[in-house]
Amino acid sequence: KVRVAILISGGGSNMVKLVESMSADHPAKPVLVLSNDPAAAGLDRARALGVPVASVDHRPFGKDRAMFETALLAPLLAAQPDVVCLAGFMRVLTPGFVARFAGRMLNIHPSLLPKYPGLHTHQRALDAGDAEAGCTVHEVTADLDAGPILGQARVPVLPGDTADTLSARVLGMEHRLYPAVLRRFAEGDRTPVLLPAA
Ligand code: GAR
Repeated sequence: KVRVAILISGGGSNMVKLVESMSADHPAKPVLVLSNDPAAAGLDRARALGVPVASVDHRPFGKDRAMFETALLAPLLAAQPDVVCLAGFMRVLTPGFVARFAGRMLNIHPSLLPKYPGLHTHQRALDAGDAEAGCTVHEVTADLDAGPILGQARVPVLPGDTADTLSARVLGMEHRLYPAVLRRFAEGDRTPVLLPAA
């Protein structure tokens, strides 16, 4: 089976959906959930699902991203992942780290990339008056939120939406999109997944 490591920073709802999707007949299996925050709620959820967990607190490393990443690599490499999924992982990774997993690191981002890379995507979509929003799974490259797109899902922006209501609607689609992309990716198919299906 394709070995999958999942990196999280918080609640890990996307991680849970990915783990739950990797059932017996799935081409992949989860081998590690890794967090930069030892208190991330997702770690307990992963443990409850029977997935090995590890954490490397980024804070003692201050601005030294390279040293943090060296520490992060130890449990990650020990798990021997074929694919690394960033799922709500909120640390920017250096090009050197990304290069180690070139072509096999995925990320989910809460916007219709190339629109709104970075943070505060939902507020930015609302401020722009967009009629639709969504999420994107892409291959991670050295450029932030700019790698080849592996899947996208759209939702309408509704009257009265706030960043919170829009974020909840998009997150619901994230939970469908990421497992669909991971399955296809693990099968060796890089054709983008588009939801809802036309
Ligand atoms: C998700 O909406 C994900 O797209 C976003 O963080 C949330 C994590 O939720 N990721 C980013 O903003 C990456 N820059 P989760 O922990 O419940 O999966």
